[in-house]
Amino acid sequence: MALKTGQDMQDTLELVPHGPVIPVIVIQRLADAVPLARALVAGGVRVLEVTLRTPVALAAMRDIARAVPEAIVGAGTIRSLADAQAARDAGCLFGVSPGYTAAIGQGCRQIGLPLLPGVATAGEVMAANADGYSFLKFFPATAAGGIPLLKGLAGPFADVVFCPTGGITPETAPQFLALPNVKVCGGSWLTPQDAIDAGDWSRITALARAASALRG
Ligand code: 3PG
Repeated sequence: MALKTGQDMQDTLELVPHGPVIPVIVIQRLADAVPLARALVAGGVRVLEVTLRTPVALAAMRDIARAVPEAIVGAGTIRSLADAQAARDAGCLFGVSPGYTAAIGQGCRQIGLPLLPGVATAGEVMAANADGYSFLKFFPATAAGGIPLLKGLAGPFADVVFCPTGGITPETAPQFLALPNVKVCGGSWLTPQDAIDAGDWSRITALARAASALRG
């Protein structure tokens, strides 16, 4: 599946075939963005969630989108429609929000940014569902109830699938990925800050390669 421009992607479910883990990335130094993205792609991880948590985040998204065509760049930590618009303008192909609001869910549809909205409760699942979203981030996965909660949500929400994120490790990821209602999971373990600071791209490629091979 070729995902090169925003027009090519209609729905975040299109991310699923690209691999079992979406890295949650925090970029502190703009110069790290492109080599970090290249290191992840070299390890087989093309879908990258760059969080809007640092002053250089939007510039990092723009640089990756321009310089690493194999990467499918999305914006994490979308907390407002203005965030979503800025991410779209920076070349992001999708957005990820930590929680659900109708303003973000409906607004992202209007601006054409596919959204993976966060939920942690049945009520939030219902709100996201009401706006047409059935692929949801489950966040913060481990703290909010982990695998037992995902199993509980499978009953009333048989048509909903999740990307659990938050507190997941390489050791616990296969247990999450084994659930029928989990398509992928997210985590920051692929991009340790000390490896980024040291420019240890081969370590990040190795972590990406291991994550790519995870299965439930
Ligand atoms: C986050 O928002 O930082 C993500 O959920 C990543 O969580 P993790 O660091 O526990 O993987």
